[in-house]
Amino acid sequence: MRILSGIQPSGSMHIGNYLGAVRQWVNSQNPDAYYCIVDLHALTLQIEPARLREQTVDYLASLLAAGLDPEVCTLFIQSQVPYHAQMNWLLECVATYGELSRMTQFKEKASRQEGYRVGLLTYPVLMAGDILLYSAQQVPVGDDQRQHLELTREIAERFNNRYGEVFTVPVGVQPKASARVMDLQEPTRKMSKSLASPLGLIYLNDTPQEIDKKIKKAVTDTDNEVRFDWESKPGLSNLLEMYSSFSGESPEVVAGRYDRYGDLKRDLAELVIASLEPMQRRYRELRADEGALRALAARGAEKASAVAGSVYERAAAAMGL
Ligand code: TYM
Repeated sequence: MRILSGIQPSGSMHIGNYLGAVRQWVNSQNPDAYYCIVDLHALTLQIEPARLREQTVDYLASLLAAGLDPEVCTLFIQSQVPYHAQMNWLLECVATYGELSRMTQFKEKASRQEGYRVGLLTYPVLMAGDILLYSAQQVPVGDDQRQHLELTREIAERFNNRYGEVFTVPVGVQPKASARVMDLQEPTRKMSKSLASPLGLIYLNDTPQEIDKKIKKAVTDTDNEVRFDWESKPGLSNLLEMYSSFSGESPEVVAGRYDRYGDLKRDLAELVIASLEPMQRRYRELRADEGALRALAARGAEKASAVAGSVYERAAAAMGL
């Protein structure tokens, strides 16, 4: 099964990224799976160059620590495969201004700043190129990327109709649980790297004390009835779903075991700490050898280029270049 997915190296990786996307990547990795750290995407918002460089390597270590095996799948850095930027241009001449300006993420992010970058608008086109360059059949992503996936399908179909069959039309795949992990302080908003919410996010590299504190302070309601119900109990349901994602039980079964929010929070904190601990240990080992990480990324880029190059050439030729 040909798979592609990507993650932006902006901010630190959090459990929304892990449960919504990265864990699916690990479970579906195979010799035909391509996963990239999309550093070009990170340029759409303000980020210090040194920080971007550093975090890109952090993300390599985090993805390996989470369980990606470079002997099985291909892991690479987007900017090291120049076809992504080249394909972006071809597809900017297929996508329309109207459809891009209707994207929810664009509207949200643009509304939070003055003088936003053009890249913030055209970002879904770059993403469509990432996917189409690899003829991906499946794209494992969290719920917030659904709309971008729909646009990718639309662009692929339009291109194929206009210029001939070049692209595979991909489908997005969401996990059964935790496709949308919510902010612990504002449980009606998704947990997000681009929103500073000091107690709202659990990072994969948080200390046990930080995790414990964030879960204990998570916003819930006041009626103290433990029940899985997103409509009337978003905060509690977020915690139950998180529990269920780490333990493998259904959220209803977990809810049935508790009478008090405090007990659930205490056990959830323990579960999250224990689940992340082995990953954190592997992360520290891997991150200590930056040379090895960079070498691995270079090998990944070489493998990715071979695939992306041939699709790019076909797309360019079909358009008359
Ligand atoms: P990014 O970097 O924001 O997020 C990476 C992945 O994590 C998922 N995710 C979540 N899942 C559940 N709950 C959350 N609170 C949560 N927050 C994030 C995202 O859905 C995503 O799967 N545009 C993409 C990166 C990208 C990409 C691609 C993805 C670029 N090119 C090609 C797939 C294919 C993004 O910004 O993800």
